[in-house]
Amino acid sequence: MHSQAHDIGAPPLLEALRTGTGLLHVALEKRLPFFSASLDVDWYRRLLQAYYGFYRPIESALYDSDLIPDGFDCVLRAKTPTLVSDLHALGLDDHGINALPRCIHLPDLDTPAACLGALYVLEGATLGGQVLRREMSLRLDVGADNGGAFLNVYGAQTGRRWKDFLDYLGRLPLDALAKQHAVNAARSTFSGFEQWLDSQKVLL
Ligand code: HEM
Repeated sequence: MHSQAHDIGAPPLLEALRTGTGLLHVALEKRLPFFSASLDVDWYRRLLQAYYGFYRPIESALYDSDLIPDGFDCVLRAKTPTLVSDLHALGLDDHGINALPRCIHLPDLDTPAACLGALYVLEGATLGGQVLRREMSLRLDVGADNGGAFLNVYGAQTGRRWKDFLDYLGRLPLDALAKQHAVNAARSTFSGFEQWLDSQKVLL
């Protein structure tokens, strides 16, 4: 990695991630159907199937990479198991879940910084999940026991875990080049997820 001297005047990692992904977040949010009047339980199930098709391979790639800097608890933060429970609740069996299509065009997760960028996106998504959870409960009567657990994957711990994640990010010494890798990976995670969901025909 470059020396810290290259980093003078560069924004902290979190700020760089926010600046680098803000527009991609807005773009994806607009195309997700959670607030669409046409969303029904069938569309919701197809949406979660498509989420699974992205989360499963990206979480496997991250956790198998051995590149995530110490201090991130993969067991505590894995979200694919909750997606599996939701898909069971929505009527799929293990065979059906294993047969679901999975994204093969994942972001390059070849450096610790790139892993952090992808993790930022997956952890941040739990915040929006709080809004979506309420909406799905009101609109489709979907809650923790019948297919909506993923949207509230950390439950009452959501705010605490986000703060802990930001503290973890803040503790890691990343030089300017590493920060750029993190931002690139976060951007690729957003755009890769959108392209994947688009290919599965679940977006507006
Ligand atoms: C319609 C869908 C979505 C809505 C309504 C939504 C809404 C929100 C809201 C309200 C926040 C800020 C929460 C806070 O500051 O307490 C947030 C943060 C965030 N969301 Fe989303 N979100 C959606 C989908 C997603 C998706 C699909 C992803 C990624 C896969 C994502 C990634 C993030 C990230 C990374 C942050 C953290 C930004 C930061 O504070 O640094 N969101 N979202």
